[in-house]
Amino acid sequence: MIEVVRGDITTLQVDAIVNAANSSLLGGGGVDGAIHRAAGPRLLEACRRVGGCPVGKSRITGGFDLPANWVIHTVGPVWQGGECDEPELLSACYRNSFELALQNGKIASIAFPGISTGVYGYPKRDAAIRALTEMRRYDSRFERIIACCFGAQDEEIYKEEMSRR
Ligand code: AR6
Repeated sequence: MIEVVRGDITTLQVDAIVNAANSSLLGGGGVDGAIHRAAGPRLLEACRRVGGCPVGKSRITGGFDLPANWVIHTVGPVWQGGECDEPELLSACYRNSFELALQNGKIASIAFPGISTGVYGYPKRDAAIRALTEMRRYDSRFERIIACCFGAQDEEIYKEEMSRR
């Protein structure tokens, strides 16, 4: 089941939350900063051991002090106008995160933020449409898939796009 939830992803009681990270995996602002703060310093140590992640790909660590047992770190594309493979890379972030979750074998519920839609500047509605397309592809393989929206506008976009099918 796909749900649109408004709130802070770090508070969600799900098996895995997805982090909109950068290639270093060494933390940053936005949702990445919030996740590192809530998970505690062991998350940074785990990310150091992982050693980075290319754009469009995903890596998994524990959730440490988070309610979630796992964090799937994915690196979204920086929006450059749409001609630099950004749409396909964004879809790949969702797909590769779902695939990692399935390989893990213990993840039935997973929550995503709007990858790339903050400082990376990806247009929010186009990003939501891509996110929902991938979520629908994986819907039957998870108990819960949550689109976690931080702001009211994001929530409205997701709800509109959810109802359009
Ligand atoms: N819970 C849920 N969503 C959130 C939260 C939160 N606590 N905080 C922010 N958002 P961004 P990006 C939303 O900028 O665009 C970092 O510095 C936010 O409103 O966090 O992929 C990384 O280290 C937006 O909709 O990620 C990278 O350098 C969405 O999360 C870079 O930013 C993503 O915004 C990644 O940029």
